[in-house]
Amino acid sequence: MLVLLLAANLFVLQRHVLSEKDSPQDKDQTFEKVVQPFFANHCFACHNDDRHTAGLNLEALDNAEALTKDRAKLNLLFTKLKSGQMPPPDQPRPNADTMAAVVD
Ligand code: HEC
Repeated sequence: MLVLLLAANLFVLQRHVLSEKDSPQDKDQTFEKVVQPFFANHCFACHNDDRHTAGLNLEALDNAEALTKDRAKLNLLFTKLKSGQMPPPDQPRPNADTMAAVVD
């Protein structure tokens, strides 16, 4: 169940926050309801306001535009998620196969 939920989160991240069709308001809603909680659960432990591991502070992203503005960083983020490098292997994380199926 948890795995499905996480996979769904990634799906929403890619399909809605990045979509050209959704309005900025829709994107921000999706961001607040789905993407931020996902980051909070799996990423804030290391990438937060106090602890910028690898120079990355995901807590600083407070709307959809902040996330999508920096394409290079976003691509890197997807690469890390898809490859299973983030969250690090010793952390609770989405099932790699399910996630790969969703983000491809
Ligand atoms: C247990 C601590 C920890 C957690 C939790 C964590 N990370 Fe990381 N993150 C690291 C470390 C350490 C590095 C640097 C080493 C590396 O790049 O693999 C890193 C690097 C990164 C980078 C590359 C940054 C750059 O500019 O090189 C990205 C993107 C990233 N993490 C995204 C995430 C995302 C998204 C999540 C949640 C799904 C997450 N991380 C969860 C510790 C963590």
